[in-house]
This record gives sequence, structure tokens and C-alpha cells, in this order.
Amino acid sequence: MFQQAVLYYYYPDIVNMDTTTIETIRTAVENINDPDLQRTLGQLKAVFDIKEVDGTVEVYLEIVPPVYDVAEYLDTAVKQAVASAANGANAVVIAREKEIKRTGNAHVLPDVHNLIAVASGKGGVGKSTVAANLACALAQHGLRVGLLDADIYGPSAPTMFGLAGATMHAEKTEDGRILGYPNEQYGVKVASIGFVMQRDQAAILRGPMLAGYFKTLVEQIQWGELDVLLFDLPPGTGDIQLTLTQQVPLTGAVVVTTPQEIALADVRRSVQMFRKVNVEILGVVENMSYFVPPDAPEKKYHIFGEGGGAMVASEAGVPLLGEIPINIGLRTGGDDGLPAVLNPDMDYEIAKTIHTVAANVIRQVRIVNARRLDAPVIQITL
Ligand SMILES: Nc1ncnc2c1ncn2[C@@H]1O[C@H](COP(=O)(O)OP(=O)(O)OP(=O)(O)O)[C@@H](O)[C@H]1O
Ligand SMILES: [Mg+2]
Repeated sequence: MFQQAVLYYYYPDIVNMDTTTIETIRTAVENINDPDLQRTLGQLKAVFDIKEVDGTVEVYLEIVPPVYDVAEYLDTAVKQAVASAANGANAVVIAREKEIKRTGNAHVLPDVHNLIAVASGKGGVGKSTVAANLACALAQHGLRVGLLDADIYGPSAPTMFGLAGATMHAEKTEDGRILGYPNEQYGVKVASIGFVMQRDQAAILRGPMLAGYFKTLVEQIQWGELDVLLFDLPPGTGDIQLTLTQQVPLTGAVVVTTPQEIALADVRRSVQMFRKVNVEILGVVENMSYFVPPDAPEKKYHIFGEGGGAMVASEAGVPLLGEIPINIGLRTGGDDGLPAVLNPDMDYEIAKTIHTVAANVIRQVRIVNARRLDAPVIQITL
């Protein structure tokens, strides 16, 4: 993906910069810190060219994906660095994403850059609500986003995205394969078991058959190129979860919990499952953290207890990605098919909270990707 942030100014005083000036600029740019990764652009080998064209300094960057808030930050930081290093010179930043090598099953969904599971050992904690709102928040920031609702028995994406009753367009190829196309809504490509079969049909599928069905679904959907694909998982640590973690090259998992102790045992099991199969835990989202009555905004009630999310996160040594309150708009948004994050007029604070969670998820994905950048490439010769 090519993200371009381009602004052209003509600056008549600087023409034909000498190499020393360019080197001074390079040093200044390489000293800029990537705020998510806490490493300099020099350390990240992010600067791949700097040149002057008609008095404007062109800075070419390769940024660890996904590029989200960081694009704007680096654009400003580079312009400031160039201006102070070269006597007020103007700069344009031309950025593209660094390529991240897959660690396993590279042939599965090769055009999807980052694959994230939204999971929890426990049912009803808000996985689907979090996944739907996250997907929309990321799409609002210009990322190409898909959401696979993998809940065979209780698909919720059709309702949450206002697509109830929709079916999936499918085609048969000459060699007999079935290709399915996701439905696009609010800038998110959505695929769900709910588009292909009725709930009572799904109920007769069990164990390995279910896993096989899910695998087919994952491999045959035509997502096109995506920056992020979210998997909204059913609760538990059963066949679907195992198939996903073993077959799909997940970048990582976001674990959702509610604050109370009773949810935590199941959530810990979920963390252990991902750890066992070497899937990175990106962090924990605590949902239904507290309630602020709309008619008494100074009050805050911890209806389901306090601190469970932070506890699971610290036990697992991963960040707490956010605390989402119990909110009527989040519930009605789900029922009405318009995720609350898209409706900030209804509750601006909720939209803001979801965007913070989205930014935190992206930061963790970038950290995982940066680590993969450093990992030695193992060449296997057969
Ligand atoms: N923060 C919240 N505030 C208010 N209602 C919420 C919140 N989060 C989720 N809900 C509501 O709780 C119910 C369960 O949420 P959701 O379907 O997202 O959970 P889930 O973990 O995906 O469930 P399942 O395990 O069945 O897949 C839904 O009716 C949803 O609208
Ligand atoms: Mg769900």
C-alpha cells in the first residue's frame, strides 16, 4: 500500500543543495523517533532516499505497517526536521509500507497484510461489538478492512452491519472451486456464516466437519488487498479457534473480557491457547467496565466489578488496550446495524474511546511487525 502525504511549496532560495546539506538533513530525519515503536527512523532503516528537486526536499520513507496515526505524525516531524536542518527548507514526505515477512502459512490469504483475531474464552463479553466497532474505526482512518464473522452458531455481523438477510455473492471457477465475495458496508468488507447458511443448518455441523467448513470459508473468500482482517471468533477454545490459530497466519489476538472475576478464568484459558500455538497476544480490551448514567454524568458505577482487564493483561505481560463502558448506544448501535463509532452525535465519548482502542491495537500490530523485520530470515533449501 502506498500512503502519500504530499504538499508542494516552491522555495526559491534553495536550489541545488550540496551533499553536506543533504547529509545534515538525513541525520536530522534519521533521529526522529517512531512514537509507536520507540526507535528512531535510522534504527528502523526507514529512510530510503532524500533528494532535492527544485528547492523542495523529497524524503522517501518506508514505514512499519499498518500506517495509521503515525503517517500524520511523521509528516509533521520530517517537515520540522528538514526546516531546522536546512535553513527553513520545505519538504514533502513520500511514504510506503515496509514489507513484513509472514512467519507461517504464507500462502493463506497472501493479500491480507495483518490478520487479527478478536477472541475471548467467555461468551457475551462483547467480542462482536468490539470487532464491529474496531473495524469501522480502522476504515474511518483509511485502512482497507475486512471482518470475518466466524461464529457459526450465533453470527452477529449481519445484524451489527445492517446486513440482515443479505446473502454472499459466489462464483464457481472453471476448475470447480467456489469463490465467495464479502458484502461491503461502512467501508468494511464483511463475510459471515450468516450470509451462507441458516442457524439450524449450522447447528448440525460438529467438530472436525465444522473446522473443515470454516477452513473452506477462510480460504475461498475473495477479500482483495486488505490492511487488516479481523476475525470475530465464537466464545471458547474449541475447534474453530484451533483451526484459525493453526491454519491462518495471525499477526496476533485481541482478547476481550469483562471486569468480573467469573469471566477471568475463561479469558485466561483463551490467553493460554494462543500462547500454546505461538500467536502473539496484542493486548486485552476490558468491555462493560463501568456505567456513567446519561442523566448523571458525574457518577460512575462499576457494575461488573473493577480491574479484571488490567489483571489479566498484567498476568499475561501484555497491554490493556482500553476500557469500554456499558453504554446504551453501543447496544442499540449493534441492534440497529450502525456501529456506535460511526454515530458520534449519539455519544462522542464512546466514539473517542473506540478510536483510542483502535490506535492502541494498531500500535501493538506495528510492534509485532517491527520485531518480524528484525528476525533473521531463515532460508530453507530443499
Ligand atoms: N459496552 C457495552 N455496552 C452495552 N452493551 C454492550 C456492550 N458491549 C456489548 N454489549 C451488548 O451485549 C450483548 C453481547 O455482546 P456481543 O454480541 O458483542 O458479545 P460476544 O462476546 O460477541 O457474544 P458471543 O459470545 O455470543 O459471540 C449485545 O447485545 C451487545 O449489544
Ligand atoms: Mg459474538
